[in-house]
Amino acid sequence: MKTNSWESKMGFIATLLSVALMSCNSTVTEPTSSLKDAYQGRFLVGTALNKSHNYGNDTLGISLIKQHFNSIVAENCMKSMHIQPTEGVFFFEEADKFVEFGEANGMFIVGHTLVWHSQAPAWLFVDENGADVSREVMIERMRNHIHTVVGRYKGRVDGWDVVNEAIMDDGSWRNTKFFEIIGDDYIKLAFQFAHEADPDAELYYNDYAMSMEGKRKGVVELVKQLQAEGIRIDGIGMQGHMGMDHPDIGEFEKSIQAYAALGVNVMITEMDITLLPFPGEETAEVSLSAAYQEKMNPYAAGLPDDIAAAWEQRYTDYFQLFLKYSDQISRVTLWGLTDADTWRNDWPMKGRTDYPLLFDRQYQPKQVVQKLIELTENKE
Ligand code: GLA
Repeated sequence: MKTNSWESKMGFIATLLSVALMSCNSTVTEPTSSLKDAYQGRFLVGTALNKSHNYGNDTLGISLIKQHFNSIVAENCMKSMHIQPTEGVFFFEEADKFVEFGEANGMFIVGHTLVWHSQAPAWLFVDENGADVSREVMIERMRNHIHTVVGRYKGRVDGWDVVNEAIMDDGSWRNTKFFEIIGDDYIKLAFQFAHEADPDAELYYNDYAMSMEGKRKGVVELVKQLQAEGIRIDGIGMQGHMGMDHPDIGEFEKSIQAYAALGVNVMITEMDITLLPFPGEETAEVSLSAAYQEKMNPYAAGLPDDIAAAWEQRYTDYFQLFLKYSDQISRVTLWGLTDADTWRNDWPMKGRTDYPLLFDRQYQPKQVVQKLIELTENKE
């Protein structure tokens, strides 16, 4: 009907105007330094590279990455379902480009991830009849995967997330297929295989919810056990997928202290701070999914100033904490570059509009970038 189409046109124009106004507000002048230069001597500042970065399509993104970051991690292309989709058939093209980009730009390159229950190909755990393989076969598949992938990038990838998300929030071991089939020496074996394949590469354990008391205890115990057995482990990655109310910064600090006390590096490996409400209890468990609801997508037309300010404060509080522990923290990596391509827009609910990263949808540095740079000037 006529009225409806007139109304919808007016609505469309109003939305355009409000988006334009919001983006004017959020556009800030160029920061006085770059993140990597500001944090030089404190810790590396990293970001995760996606397919468009790896293949050189996102040219604006690539120039920001070169400007602000001195470390990169592979967002997806090194996960087992991508790199060995079929047994014995490795797809190295994208990972090769990722590594070449890091080398060409003198960056600290992190491989992610060798052993993870998620984003793993179905064949990995079963025989031709679909039954679980034996312990021996599983160990051999894990060994072959790790040797082939780590071996290919020997001397080129600086550090590997060897095992991802093996400990539950209460500190118990996650009942993955690796655990179920191999038993509780699978983590030790994974680290051994990675070390054999590249004796000079740094090796890490990486997980989410790392500030929770139960998980903290479980991870400390695991690392102590590996160390007691003489297994090389260089660092512990605290993923850092955060919200506005969790994790508690005091608990996060306790975990930094507990992990650093083990004599390994602490790394914040996948930082992003979501502003969206979470359906249910907040977690970074990637297997969750929920149906889209409009009310769960409150900032689709833009971000109110007070919310943006609170979010900025939370980022600066955390970076202040990281600076306090810069002798123990070797790297802080953001999980992505701009708000346009963050996983947060689609998880656990598809199609939302989130603002968790340091660069906006127009590739502009948010005001927080300058604030994070200024933090480094206040530290004596
Ligand atoms: C976990 C993984 C990452 C990524 C995120 C969600 O944190 O370690 O590789 O998949 O989930 O994108």
